[in-house]
Amino acid sequence: MTIEIRYFSKTGNTAAVAKLIGDQLGITAKPISEPLPAHVDLLLYGGGGVYMTRPNKDALNYVKSLDPKQVGKVSLFGTAGSQMSGEHKLAELLEQQGIPREEPSLFLHGMMPNKPDFNDKQQQQIHDYAAGFTTAVH
Ligand SMILES: Cc1cc2nc3c(=O)[nH]c(=O)nc-3n(C[C@H](O)[C@H](O)[C@H](O)COP(=O)(O)O)c2cc1C
Repeated sequence: MTIEIRYFSKTGNTAAVAKLIGDQLGITAKPISEPLPAHVDLLLYGGGGVYMTRPNKDALNYVKSLDPKQVGKVSLFGTAGSQMSGEHKLAELLEQQGIPREEPSLFLHGMMPNKPDFNDKQQQQIHDYAAGFTTAVH
């Protein structure tokens, strides 16, 4: 199964989450500027944080650029300073693209900008999220 990790990250938090997920799965997490291979069975997409109540435009446009012929399924993850999340908007665009969503998802809260120092609960959440794909990788 081909699995790729892409992320958008303005201040480094979602990038740090993506790296931990990648380390656990043995996959290099890359920014959205890195093109996907010709076919991807599963894309783990970190759509960044929430900025002035919404996900960043580039993070949303990335979902709009995904081709259902190229990408089989997408699992979403992200971060936010408050209890907000970009999940709803990202999921809505994914549905518009006709790409099925894969579970689990991961949306971390209470993350101050540029402070990817995860507490014990968040570390566990990241671990559990990545563990959800261990079988798919091997
Ligand atoms: C300019 C700016 C605006 C933000 N606005 C919000 C917001 O409206 N709601 C929220 O929950 N977090 C907000 N945050 C916090 C970020 O969503 C949070 O720190 C996130 O983890 C940043 O992710 P990133 O480092 O991957 O870009 C804001 C951060 C910045 C820098």
